Amino acid sequence: MYKYRLFSSNDSDAVRRLIKATFPNFLEGEYWDWKHLHNPRFDPSIVAIAEENGKIVGCSHWLQGSFKIAKGAAVKSLLTCDLAVRPGHRNRGVARRLLLLRRTREMFKQRGIVVNYDFADPRLAKKLYSPLLGYTKVRLSTKKYFKIISWKSLINSVSRKEFQQNLKRKFPKLEKLDLTIFFKTRSAPPLTISLSYGTVKASEEVCGGDCITVEGDLRTFLSLVQTQNVRRRLLVAILERKIKIKGSFSKLFETYRNASLLQALFKIIVTRATPVGLLEEAGQFSIRGYEDGDEIEIAQLFNKAYMNYGGFAPRTPEYWRWCCLERPDVERKAVLVVVDRHESIAGYAVVGKSGSIWELCYDHEREGEEIVSLLLDNLVDYLEKIGATSIVLNAPGEDSIVNRACEKFGFEAYPTPKMFVSVLDFGRFIPLLAESKKGKWATDSDETLLVKLKNTPFWINDTILMKVGRNGVQAASDSQHATIKVETDFITLTSLLFGIMSPVQALTHLKLEVEPFWKIPKLLSILSYLQMEAKWFFPLSDFG
Ligand SMILES: CC(C)(COP(=O)(O)OP(=O)(O)OC[C@H]1O[C@@H](n2cnc3c(N)ncnc32)[C@H](O)[C@@H]1OP(=O)(O)O)[C@@H](O)C(=O)NCCC(=O)NCCS
Repeated sequence: MYKYRLFSSNDSDAVRRLIKATFPNFLEGEYWDWKHLHNPRFDPSIVAIAEENGKIVGCSHWLQGSFKIAKGAAVKSLLTCDLAVRPGHRNRGVARRLLLLRRTREMFKQRGIVVNYDFADPRLAKKLYSPLLGYTKVRLSTKKYFKIISWKSLINSVSRKEFQQNLKRKFPKLEKLDLTIFFKTRSAPPLTISLSYGTVKASEEVCGGDCITVEGDLRTFLSLVQTQNVRRRLLVAILERKIKIKGSFSKLFETYRNASLLQALFKIIVTRATPVGLLEEAGQFSIRGYEDGDEIEIAQLFNKAYMNYGGFAPRTPEYWRWCCLERPDVERKAVLVVVDRHESIAGYAVVGKSGSIWELCYDHEREGEEIVSLLLDNLVDYLEKIGATSIVLNAPGEDSIVNRACEKFGFEAYPTPKMFVSVLDFGRFIPLLAESKKGKWATDSDETLLVKLKNTPFWINDTILMKVGRNGVQAASDSQHATIKVETDFITLTSLLFGIMSPVQALTHLKLEVEPFWKIPKLLSILSYLQMEAKWFFPLSDFG
């Protein structure tokens, strides 16, 4: 019998152990104290615990904050993160109960929280979060760049006995194979994998002999790993010229027949990343390590660079110190600062030992390409020295300076991170959105809008009544005088407000029922007016 309750300070050791065991790959599991206990935003009353016979078996965290949704409009938000249930207790509904523990209308109202968001695994979002919490996927304009620096960790793991045994068990045909595959990957050093009658070897040498050459990028390799029908996907990738395969006919045929083995090799490649090298030259800027006091200018720079993006949460120097400087995997020397001749900060980057560039920011009014190149050169050099194997960076998709610099350094654009949102209180959210658009409102008459929502989670009010007109949007109280009545569902309204679906699409897909019908044009113009236009960006430091 499970018991669900809120976190208390005596739970720290057990929760720390649970998080470490559940997420060992993220900062080696050593992040709970920093991310939660020492976080200025930590609030035990929104951390949920599941226990059985006095032993903690599950936990779920919320971090309260606020972020921008439009020019001049920020909302109070809740980030859902670090949901973990011990393996022996999974699939019994523990996570579902944890996620619902403090999810009540009163709690959101009391705290004024209107949006819940999450950077969830899309599969888990589809199966668990969206049906339970009403998550809708938001298109981020954030772009992720990735580069492999070396295949060291892959070579080490391939040489391990257990790896060889596993591969043989999975592919008994390996005993009869004699095949060398040379992978020319766009954002990585050369890699040669030799399969010789049951033994596997990997090296960074360029294969000069009788081998198959596979040329492509990590993204295409990833699509081959995820497919059920690898042969068909391989043919499509070849026809689309995303992959080039060269070699003698007999070797090509052998490779095609053993496509699932090739798929296993692609999987090893895309999941075992590693690091680059370079540096030098400065021009009018120079680069140095972080010095105490820099955080004031750094926070100003961050705020100036990203203030127009959706998701923006202003940095204070104190918050930045906690978020970047005190992060468990960040060494002082890995916080790089670019200064001009007057020692004024023009850019900075914070990189973790694992290769995550938590933040990289530059002054958009200065020579961005020079600043970003200088930062990338140096942080790649740092990562190479400490033996990291790969680099990941998040940047706004339309930032052509970072885009060009990443291309120059051989980074590859990777699938965009996914963000999911769920509006918690439309009655407060909509007037806030409208307020941010003041001045753009071009309506000549006032309307009283009554929106009836279907399929709403229990913490959402299913009726919205508001007056829309020359003075923006205000709550109304008399539903008898509604001039437009709309029936729609919770997900459609969220998608409309977040700009994921256009009002016309909603109408043509029969997601909106409007009464009286001649008010349809009016309603469409109100909905288009309310739609969010912000481009969304989150640096990696905001993800975890
Ligand atoms: C995800 C996790 C918290 C679920 O806990 P749980 O108590 O087993 O969850 P519940 O029993 O309430 O619900 C399980 C549902 O989630 C689904 N699910 C669990 N993990 C999943 C995954 N990785 N991908 C897709 N669906 C998943 C299950 O299939 C099940 O759906 P169903 O009932 O429709 O079959 C647990 O598996 C866990 O700790 N995983 C490792 C950590 C993690 O991934 N955390 C989430 C990211 S922060």
